[in-house]
Amino acid sequence: MKHLAIIPGDGIGKEVIDVGLKVLDAVCEISSFDYDGELFDIGSERYLKSGELLTDEDTDSLRKKDAIYFGAIGDPRVKPGILEQGILLKMRAVFDQYINLRPVTSWFPLVPLKREVPFDIHFLRENTEDFYMGAGGTFGRDRKDARVNVKREMYDLQIDLRTNSSNNDDFAFEIGLLSRKGITRFADYAFNYAKARGDKKVTLVDKANVCTHIYGMQRSIFEEKSKEHGIALEYMFVDAMAMAMIVRPETFGTVAVPNLFGDILTDLGSQLQGGLGMGGSGNINPNGVSMFEPIHGSAPDIAGQKKANPIAAVLAARMLLENQGYQEEGEMLRRSVRDCLDKGLTTPDLGGKLTTDEVGEAICRYILGQKK
Ligand code: NAD
Ligand code: IPM
Ligand code: MN
Repeated sequence: MKHLAIIPGDGIGKEVIDVGLKVLDAVCEISSFDYDGELFDIGSERYLKSGELLTDEDTDSLRKKDAIYFGAIGDPRVKPGILEQGILLKMRAVFDQYINLRPVTSWFPLVPLKREVPFDIHFLRENTEDFYMGAGGTFGRDRKDARVNVKREMYDLQIDLRTNSSNNDDFAFEIGLLSRKGITRFADYAFNYAKARGDKKVTLVDKANVCTHIYGMQRSIFEEKSKEHGIALEYMFVDAMAMAMIVRPETFGTVAVPNLFGDILTDLGSQLQGGLGMGGSGNINPNGVSMFEPIHGSAPDIAGQKKANPIAAVLAARMLLENQGYQEEGEMLRRSVRDCLDKGLTTPDLGGKLTTDEVGEAICRYILGQKK
């Protein structure tokens, strides 16, 4: 019996997790997988009522779970950043989910490319460092100095910034930071992942021609690790990578990418799979509690209209199953999605006419039909 935390969150997060749970229930009916799910009321509604984001009580309870199944957060009534940093990014940091695994796989014929080529890129996005530290601030005409203060398990970052008294400008800054420990565990994970997948190389995406300090250090550690693991290393600048994902996606396998660029490239990757409604992801701590979620957000523009494509959430459930040791069940979810696409049983974003729940029902029907 697996103990899962369920956090539907906001907007379409609730709608797609609802489907994801029905799909997991169907999997329970026909396989040895079994789970109990505890629902957590974490998101904008609770925040607007009580001011609570991710509380210590939440994290204490979540820590006892085998895995977390998460929908999305984000609400137009709340200033950008509050829910995102206070809930989602805090969860990734507190549980040290340092790998964000985001597969980008062709689902023929959904690919919006001129050529139809099969591809299967596995993005490993570093998930705890880079420009996602919340290390920033403002200073300038009214206040001449600012201090960054970020406390993490590995370091206590303090930076002082000052302007001279004649200054007549305002400043805002955001610090991107990488640690040797953070890069090393990221590199080890990437090379081991490539080995397990049978990939001959790891592609490291960066902008080492501009952000020479952080990505220079990252390159040197990846180079050492490439030798140690006996797997080739290839560099791609992020701008060229965005282009290459369109013109030759089939040439990539395991791709390691720092946090911010990984966020951007995997939305592009989702679109290569048919749209944001197709991208599943796992926030992984190999020795702790991992969290599985669709790549997309709360989509306020379509929330409550039964239009949300639940497949990304189903593919996140697939990743959860596989992470928990249920490979066959995970593979069955992949086939259930394939079956829906083949039959045109899809939501409007993929050109279909079905509602979120109807796609869920089609997926459940397929799974229940797999009973041995
Ligand atoms: P979004 O991913 O919510 O939506 C972008 C576009 O894609 C919208 O037009 C939306 O309708 C469409 N879309 C997304 N998911 C879809 C699905 N499953 N089916 C069909 N169409 C889908 O991104 P946004 O609009 O930039 O952000 C909205 C809110 O979500 C913001 O508050 C943002 O911070 C938050 N957000 C949260 C997460 C998360 O929780 N992991 C991820 C991204 C954005
Ligand atoms: C994602 C989202 C988050 C991110 C936001 C909501 C903080 O865009 O999961 O891709 O940038 O990581
Ligand atoms: Mn994103």
